[in-house]
Amino acid sequence: MGTIIKGGTLVTESDVFQSDLVLDRGKIVAIGRDFTPQPGTEVVDARGRYVMPGGIDAHVHFQLPFCGTVSSDDFVNGTKAAACGGITTVIDYAIQVKGRPVMEAVKNRRAEADGRVCIDYSLHAGLTDWSENSPRELEQLIDYGIPTIKMFMIYKDQGWMADDFMLYRALEETARIGAMIELHAESVFVMDGLIKKYHRDFRKLGAWGHVLSRPAFVEEEAVQRAIKWAEVTNGRVYIVHMSAGAAADAVKAGQERGVSVYAETCPQYLLLDDSVFTKKNGHWYATCPQIKKREDADRLWRGVINGEVSLIATDTCTFTTKQKAMWHGDFTKIPYGMPGVETMVPLMYTFGVGKKRFSLNRFVQLVSTNPARLHGLYPRKGTLTVGADADVVVFDPKKKFVITPKRLQTNCDWSPYDGWKLTGYPAMTFSRGRLVAREGKFIGETGGGQFVRREPWGAIEGRIKK
Ligand code: URP
Ligand code: ZN
Ligand code: ZN
Repeated sequence: MGTIIKGGTLVTESDVFQSDLVLDRGKIVAIGRDFTPQPGTEVVDARGRYVMPGGIDAHVHFQLPFCGTVSSDDFVNGTKAAACGGITTVIDYAIQVKGRPVMEAVKNRRAEADGRVCIDYSLHAGLTDWSENSPRELEQLIDYGIPTIKMFMIYKDQGWMADDFMLYRALEETARIGAMIELHAESVFVMDGLIKKYHRDFRKLGAWGHVLSRPAFVEEEAVQRAIKWAEVTNGRVYIVHMSAGAAADAVKAGQERGVSVYAETCPQYLLLDDSVFTKKNGHWYATCPQIKKREDADRLWRGVINGEVSLIATDTCTFTTKQKAMWHGDFTKIPYGMPGVETMVPLMYTFGVGKKRFSLNRFVQLVSTNPARLHGLYPRKGTLTVGADADVVVFDPKKKFVITPKRLQTNCDWSPYDGWKLTGYPAMTFSRGRLVAREGKFIGETGGGQFVRREPWGAIEGRIKK
């Protein structure tokens, strides 16, 4: 039994070489040439294709109750969409209800996801409260296989916001036990003040009010502050969905003086700019943080190329045009978020490797190996090695694909990249050895994915192969 992926070009963060890959019982069992298939072995012809570790999207929000609605990709469809786009592991969030144990949120979220996910998944624990029990709760999370703690510097009204001392304490405690703080960094008081200020003119401003109320310095200042708290506590901080060029400068400066600060950015911050808000349906593009200026995108690309940005994730939080219409012209009422998990890998290939911004190795590092390393999944996931999970993508570098909502699995009737032409698309996705997607269509079994335990002390060496 098992599968031989034959004749392909294997790509890891450090190598590109011709080899066959043998998958059996959910694992990679051999790498080499000229294996003789046993009766019943599936042989996949991968000639002319890249064979790479499955993508890992470390930032998704499936069926998230948010902004008065629920994000439209649930655990079933979101993970199907992920598989179609070459992703084999997603990390979602279990956000603590203030005053309740964090583990309660984890168990509730698992009850929503287990038996429904179609690829493997894990959870970050969202910490919204601090008490004398918190250090013990953090230890419990590590024992449970959740070494990443999400904190928000904004979202006061949702009850998610952490103040600076809470962040400081959490950094201190997580430094001790090998967890990492994943941080939504925006400066809440200035941002909320600006929202109030521009809201007076919301009818005139339309979606542009979203741009005016969330300038780049709102993120830059919060990132600087968070880096300071990581520096003095010896903690590790990971900036999620970094959108501002000046924030990348702050991350680089922090890294240069030895602070453990990492950053993720998302395709929307690299590929779009705030001119999208002037479109007829500009409000569709509202996310939090918002998409910044072209100069910011250019700076983020440099960060991706040079290393201060460690990885790409999507912050998938899908809202349909009907859900977006809930804004009724008021920029403060737009459900924030967009689809993304299905298009991350091919977009990064076309606009990264295809445009010669970075190498094939760096592509794999950004969408698979670094997310695995930092999130405690490596080397079980994020690489092609004997003994690793058989999470594998056969990628067709020549395939032309025009992004259209109808061709995508995601539960969304619009795409930020509608009409964009890609060269290179996942041809097959294997999740623990099972073929789950072929040519952009989900063909796996609903509920075939599993919750994966992750290890603490995840880190990267910062090695980049240009
Ligand atoms: O707009 C977004 N990103 N929605 C999801 C919540 C968050 O802050 O990541
Ligand atoms: Zn966020
Ligand atoms: Zn998010």
